[in-house]
Amino acid sequence: MSDVFFSDADFTAYRTLIYNESGIHFTATNRSILESRLKEQLRNNSVPTVQAYFDIISKDKEELKGFLDSITTNLTRFFRNQAHFDALEHHVVPELLKVKKETGNTTIKVWSAGCSTGEEPYTIAMLLSEILPPPWKFDITASDISLKCLMTGKEGFYTDSRIEGIPSAYLAKYFDKVEGGYKVHQDLMSKIHFDYHNLKNDSGQRGLDIVFCRNVIIYFDEAAQTAVINRFWDAMANKSFLFIGHSESLFGMDTKFEFVKTQWATLYRKFI
Ligand SMILES: C[S@@+](CC[C@H](N)C(=O)[O-])C[C@H]1O[C@@H](n2cnc3c(N)ncnc32)[C@H](O)[C@@H]1O
Repeated sequence: MSDVFFSDADFTAYRTLIYNESGIHFTATNRSILESRLKEQLRNNSVPTVQAYFDIISKDKEELKGFLDSITTNLTRFFRNQAHFDALEHHVVPELLKVKKETGNTTIKVWSAGCSTGEEPYTIAMLLSEILPPPWKFDITASDISLKCLMTGKEGFYTDSRIEGIPSAYLAKYFDKVEGGYKVHQDLMSKIHFDYHNLKNDSGQRGLDIVFCRNVIIYFDEAAQTAVINRFWDAMANKSFLFIGHSESLFGMDTKFEFVKTQWATLYRKFI
């Protein structure tokens, strides 16, 4: 149903732009989410109509970034889906150490793609800090299209309600209690590079050992999902591992990833 504020033609124009620019697919069912985010954007930017706002974001890449940021869903938490971290600890890391020992390269390269406000990469960083024996090191790239989220991740400050899920020993070891919440220690922060990256493009990374892209492709349609997953393939080393969200699947998708079922969680492996 069209209305004055946001007609069917406006919806088509916006959803096409959003899809082309990010892979995010707005269906008729979630049109109302788009509408409410747009209303907020018009108010915040003092723009009178959705048509005028469309002109602005079509012409100005920075405004477009701000708009894409406003329509993303950024829900996350520390140790989200513990089973993945159990599989990381008990299956992925032991496998990688075996494989990489042969190469003499002692750095495990990780990408948290669609990292939101940083809880996922910090969880990975805490766990790898705990379990990697010397001389093994790790390096994490954490990326998102939400600049607001990336700022939170870089700042490393989390309010009391957001640190739920962090085991108390980790909280004591990797965070300082500050007013209103907790702040990540600088040495843990230094292991993570937060970076703006839109998954519709090649990140240029190569030789990655572990990719986490959880609860991100669920917002894409199948064509965009396949394109993203195949770009991960190019970015990853042979015998590396891919984690996607537990409600996401590569089943039926045209990719070369192998399905790996561990006793903790299911994941994917690049194996050539
Ligand atoms: C629901 S959060 C998931 C956060 C974390 N991976 C987790 O599972 O807890 C999804 C994130 O994907 C990001 N995202 C959506 N489309 C993206 C794109 N095209 N490129 C990069 N990030 C994107 C959103 O900004 C959002 O922060």
